[in-house]
Amino acid sequence: MTEIPRIAVPTWFVGCGNMGQAMVAGWRSAGIDLSPAVAIRPSGLPVTGVRTVRSLGEAGAPPRLVVLAFKPQKLDEIAPQLKTWITGRTTIVSLLAGVEATTLRQIFPTAASIVRAMPNTPVAIRRGVIALYSEDADDKTRTELSSLFAPLGFAPWMADEAKFSAVSAIAGSGPAYVARFIAALVKAGEERGLANETASTIALETVLGTAWLAASAGEGMDEIARRVASPNGTTEAGLAVLDQKLDALVDQVIDAASERGRQLAEAARLS
Ligand SMILES: NC(=O)c1ccc[n+]([C@@H]2O[C@H](COP(=O)([O-])OP(=O)(O)OC[C@H]3O[C@@H](n4cnc5c(N)ncnc54)[C@H](OP(=O)(O)O)[C@@H]3O)[C@@H](O)[C@H]2O)c1
Repeated sequence: MTEIPRIAVPTWFVGCGNMGQAMVAGWRSAGIDLSPAVAIRPSGLPVTGVRTVRSLGEAGAPPRLVVLAFKPQKLDEIAPQLKTWITGRTTIVSLLAGVEATTLRQIFPTAASIVRAMPNTPVAIRRGVIALYSEDADDKTRTELSSLFAPLGFAPWMADEAKFSAVSAIAGSGPAYVARFIAALVKAGEERGLANETASTIALETVLGTAWLAASAGEGMDEIARRVASPNGTTEAGLAVLDQKLDALVDQVIDAASERGRQLAEAARLS
């Protein structure tokens, strides 16, 4: 049996909205003891399974692990007070989209290590992707974080920040893209007379079934498509339209997300 990893004592979630709570949900369902963790959020709204406070001053002893789980635009406001709590024993894990490791290092010079993590929302059900990147974490820290993130899904360390950004644009934002594709299938079904409930179930099961088929049979996407599309048949007629546009469209989508990441990085560098 694999050992259940332990979260650092104490761990601070600075901000705990959609993504912070998705991670907390995943760790709770993996049986990880979150009693050493505290969520700091101005609303003071409860986070299931984690002590919640409204301000850094109420959090308690200086943190060993800090998860930055607020919006990147809040960095300027939060950093001046937060950095007074960071010691040479603190690892900072930043979820902030676009904000580069060098910028974080300048802002938090005393931290033991700075790690960027880019999770996606399926971490809540432990089927997430979490890209990890650091310029200064030692092997022990990397191993500890690998075992902490492994229960949430696929958690690879990226060799450079450009690849980390690529994973962010694809996997971090990915659930929104996939959700839009499923919604488009539902809409197409409804426009052809299916009830919303029927169309929704059919679209969702088709996407889930295809993903499971690929994951369990280990087949490539070309092979999966080829076995559905008989020559001159209905699927081939559909693919002829899809294939004209899809690659270019996805490319544009990822470029737009990457460009926004660059803008956020620039804004954080200038501040
Ligand atoms: N959502 C995603 O799919 C996703 C994916 C990858 C990375 N991320 C990254 O995760 C981070 C959080 O995103 P999110 O979607 O979880 O945002 P969110 O739902 O809006 O949550 C933001 C959190 O920040 C808190 N906050 C605001 N001002 C604060 C302050 N002064 N001090 C401490 N906390 C403060 C909010 O507190 P209240 O709860 O009290 O309002 C809230 O808990 C972002 O940097 C984003 O780039 C998100």
